[in-house]
Amino acid sequence: MVYCLYMPPDGEDPHSVPAARREKEGTMETLERKKVMLSGIKPSGDLTLGSYLGAIKNWAARAEQFDCYYFMADAHAITVRQKPADLRRRTLEQLAQYIACGLDPEQNTLLIQSHVPAHAELGWVLNCYTMFGELSRMTQFKDKSRKNADNINGGLFTYPCLMAADILLYQPDYVPVGEDQKQHVELARNIVQRFNGIYGQVFRMPEPYIPKVGARVMDLLNPSSKMSKSDEAGAGVVYLMDRPEDIARKFKRAVTDSDTERCVRYDPETKPGVANLMSIYAAATDRSFAQIEAEFEGQGYGVFKPAVADAVIELLRPIREEATRILADKAYLQSVYRAGAEKAAAIANRTLRKVYKKVGFVER
Ligand code: TRP
Repeated sequence: MVYCLYMPPDGEDPHSVPAARREKEGTMETLERKKVMLSGIKPSGDLTLGSYLGAIKNWAARAEQFDCYYFMADAHAITVRQKPADLRRRTLEQLAQYIACGLDPEQNTLLIQSHVPAHAELGWVLNCYTMFGELSRMTQFKDKSRKNADNINGGLFTYPCLMAADILLYQPDYVPVGEDQKQHVELARNIVQRFNGIYGQVFRMPEPYIPKVGARVMDLLNPSSKMSKSDEAGAGVVYLMDRPEDIARKFKRAVTDSDTERCVRYDPETKPGVANLMSIYAAATDRSFAQIEAEFEGQGYGVFKPAVADAVIELLRPIREEATRILADKAYLQSVYRAGAEKAAAIANRTLRKVYKKVGFVER
């Protein structure tokens, strides 16, 4: 197969680059395989406008260039106590939402982590190749231990070993993650080095991949912190499944800035609330900040805020409707995750068998 290989400089997201430019700047190479990308998403909170504008919106186009795997990391979610019914609902809801956002299950492998036992199996092996000291240094472990002082369980501690297994099973080239997960990918790389150092070339060395494109959406009530899906209160968080009236209400309460000019001008330093609303409006309507400033020239926040709300309502309406439709079609959803697990297991088991053989397990 001939593929156009192109990795843009500066961490720019390759799928945001027009095909024409990719073809011009990339190199045509004959490869046995398309480059592989894999990412896991923990179904521990409902997806937000921030998840969409910051990440998911850009995923659909990736499938052209990469062989992509996305999985719902349900096994990771239980390191913190979950209500079983909520975990089940969110896992399926997220899958439906990803499809509604344009991730085509024909072109991407979408799976539920617990459906492919190789994750847990390799996870155990990698536990034995990861040091207590390494795991003790993980900032997420320290953070979560502080927040869940009554449930500092073993899974929370060895979480990065399972995550390394998730990654290494599929021999990916790139692992798109947020800044907060970079340390875990680095640990996976250390494990690769250690394991391959002992047994030869078993795992491909994965690269963390932190896309720079995508709007950074902040909380509507607290524009200095990110709009986060795990924010329990949710008053400043717009969820993908919010109804239009909820969205309108949340934007109505959004903080603007107490500066005296009270005009729509992009200045994140002194007007973070307005800057956040402008970023959202820009991403939702494909407009530049200059265009937005011109559009609302001479008008106050009383006109601007409802305009942002309307744009977001229209942006999310088709996603919510499509996700709701997919969610109601249990047979379809089941066919997607079953096909995903089957395809994933075939790849994952190949790696697992190799590992079992290397460490000295008797072949079955
Ligand atoms: N730990 C990731 C998070 O909390 C989710 C995750 C689990 C993941 N396994 C992964 C991400 C493998 C990338 C690759 O967001």
